[in-house]
Parts: sequence; structure tokens; C-alpha cells
Amino acid sequence: MSSTISDPAVDATPADARDERFLEVTDLVKTYPGAPSPALNGVSFAMPKGSFLVLLGPSGCGKTTTMRSIVGLETPDSGTIRVGDRVMYDDTTNVPVHRRAMGMVFQSYAIWPHRTVAQNVAFPLKVQKVARGEVTRRVDEALELVGLGHLGRRSASALSGGQMQRVALARSIVMRPDLLLLDEPLSNLDASLRDRLRIELKRLQQELGITSVYVTHDQSEALAMADRVAVMFGGVIHQFASPRELYEAPATLEVAEFLGKSNMLEGDAVAGAGSTEFGSEGGIRLTSTTGWHGTGPAIARIRVEDVDLHASAEGRVNEYPARVLVAVYEGSQMAYLVETGSGAQIEVVAQRRTSDFRAGDEVHISVDPEHVRLYAAPVDGAGTTAEPTA
Ligand SMILES: Nc1ncnc2c1ncn2[C@@H]1O[C@H](COP(=O)(O)OP(=O)(O)OP(=O)(O)O)[C@@H](O)[C@H]1O
Ligand SMILES: [Mg+2]
Repeated sequence: MSSTISDPAVDATPADARDERFLEVTDLVKTYPGAPSPALNGVSFAMPKGSFLVLLGPSGCGKTTTMRSIVGLETPDSGTIRVGDRVMYDDTTNVPVHRRAMGMVFQSYAIWPHRTVAQNVAFPLKVQKVARGEVTRRVDEALELVGLGHLGRRSASALSGGQMQRVALARSIVMRPDLLLLDEPLSNLDASLRDRLRIELKRLQQELGITSVYVTHDQSEALAMADRVAVMFGGVIHQFASPRELYEAPATLEVAEFLGKSNMLEGDAVAGAGSTEFGSEGGIRLTSTTGWHGTGPAIARIRVEDVDLHASAEGRVNEYPARVLVAVYEGSQMAYLVETGSGAQIEVVAQRRTSDFRAGDEVHISVDPEHVRLYAAPVDGAGTTAEPTA
């Protein structure tokens, strides 16, 4: 009896719990040789089987390094990477790329132009010495899935960018990977094709139920495709959340500035009972009920679509008279720049159907305290204290 329990081949974790944390990355650190700071500085996250995670963040934040570490093209300094019940990397294990059962699609298609579409897609199966009949069947199936069923015999050099990207996608799914890693696969395509392929990719991912990690620095792409988004800055995940949570409640100032369009007001906060009073340098006083509940230098973030414009004053909370400086017609919406009496300039976006002000109009702005999100101001000159002289 005890021999069964202590058998090292038996994973005691129930399958359901394992599926919840199907891909688990823990404390990943990676410093490139000669680099002054780590590219990854303690990256941890876990995602359920079949889900779609987007890694989002500015250029150089470590998205590609995270992906290459997961797939095995990069060796981390430390940390662990686990998929299902297999440890891919830890301080004693480093499973080689070809044995990780992962598919990866890069920004550049990496297609062989002198081979046919079918030969390109068949390549990973040939490497694995899959029988010929099976190769044909699976290549046809993968090409069918990406909508290229009719192009198998064509030379890969005679394809459009969008078609090449589909070939790359077919090649990544032909092995039926446990995990699909996509690093900005659509960024080389024009906008309309990107929109279409984005939807197709999402459909394909759902149909096949492949657990996928997708990298982008395009926030609308991230919000549209993801079940969960991990937002990275400087090798660290600042927030791991659903698209809605991320947009509505950014955990850090960096996330708030990166996502959507906001007014950022600098000033001072005084915590009260249940709410915080904020006074901006521009002389605006606001009541806030979200974000930082503290006293001291603060930054208030107000999304442009959360500022309400009114023709008359009604004594609302956080209401100020203002004048419209600029009114821009944007089709479905109007974008305004308004100035309060104290000289603070605020950007506003409103639905066109409910808002029709012109430059020069006297208006009243108001913001619900729930939409005034406070952050403690970053400490000036942090990390730049004077070096002691020798
Ligand atoms: N092979 C390398 N050697 C040295 N430094 C590297 C190497 N690859 C990446 N870096 C550095 O590591 C950091 C993270 O790079 P990474 O490519 O992971 O960023 P990224 O988020 O994918 O950026 P992008 O959006 O531009 O693709 C950057 O500072 C980058 O300059
Ligand atoms: Mg990259």
C-alpha cells in the first residue's frame, strides 16, 4: 500500500487542480550575458488548460524572452516551468525544445520559400518520423483548419503575407501541441487582414482547445483575444487579470498609463472615512472611492470616457464649470478638450448621439467618485541617491 503512495511516478495532484494550473511559470529569472539588468526578474503565472493568455507590454519588457524560455530556446538562470504534470525546466531539469510538445509561431514566418506549402507544414512531422500516410492526413487537416486546404501544392514563395502566416500557423498545430506560443504573429500584416486573422485565430484556438500564450504590444488586440492578460514592464508582471478587470482597475500607474486614454492629475490626497479627497496642482478637488486610500502625494487617473459633460450645473459630486477648447467629430464619438476655471485641461470622449458641444461652449464636467482612481505618486529620484564619494 505504502509503495503505491510513495511511487515517484504517481502525481498526487488531482487532475482537475492540475488543469487549473496547466502552464505554471514560477519565479523565472533570465539575465543575458553582459546585460546590466535581468530581462526577466521573477516572472510567475499560471493558466488553465484550454485558455488563452496574452502577454502585453512595451518593447523590451521581456515578452519574447518569456516565450523563448517556455519553449526551451532560452535557458533561464532560475525558476521553474511546468506544463501539465511535466516539469520542463527547474534547477535539475531542462527538457530539450523538440521534446516539449509545443508549437511556436514567430513574427517572421520562417517559411521555406523553395518548398511547397504542404512540405512546409509537414516538416515537424518528418522530424518526428511520422509515417507517410499519417503525414499526408494531418497536413491536409491542418491546412483545412487554417483555410488553405486548396493550396497544399503551391510553392511557398507564391503566397501573400497573410497566407504565409497561415502556413506558419498550420505548421505549429500539425503536431497537436500541448501548448501553442504565438509571438506577435500578426504584426507584419496590414490592418484589415490582421483584424480578420485575429478572429480566425481565436476561433481556431477555441475549436482545438489548445492552451495558448500570445504576445502583443497592441492593447486592443490583447483585450479582444485574451481570457487573461499578463501586463509586463521591465521583466516583471505588474498585473495578471481578465481584460475587463485590467481596463477598469489597473493595478499600477504603469498599467493605467499603458491601457486606454486617461487624464492624469498630479496632486495630494487625504484619506477620509470611505473616500479620499484629492486636490490637484491645477486646483481641482475631487472625491475618489477607488484605488489608493492614503494621504500624501498622489496621481488621479480619470479615463476620457468617464468624464461627463453637461449643459448646466446641477450640484453633482466632482462637478466643475469648464469651457470647450476643442471639439473633434470622430464618427461614433466626440472628442473634446475642455478647460476648467482654474486652468486644468481635461480630455473627454463622449458618444456622438448624446453629446454635441462646440468649441467655445460653456459646459460643466463631472466625474463619478468611482471613476477617480488614485495611485500613490512614485517617489522622485528613487534609486538615484547620491553615491558616496571615495
Ligand atoms: N539575445 C539577447 N542578448 C542580450 N539582450 C537581449 C537579447 N534578447 C533580448 N535582450 C534584451 O532583453 C530585454 C527583453 O527583450 P525581449 O525581446 O524579451 O522584449 P520584448 O518584450 O519581446 O520586446 P519587443 O516588443 O520589442 O519584441 C530587452 O532589454 C532586450 O534588449
Ligand atoms: Mg518581442
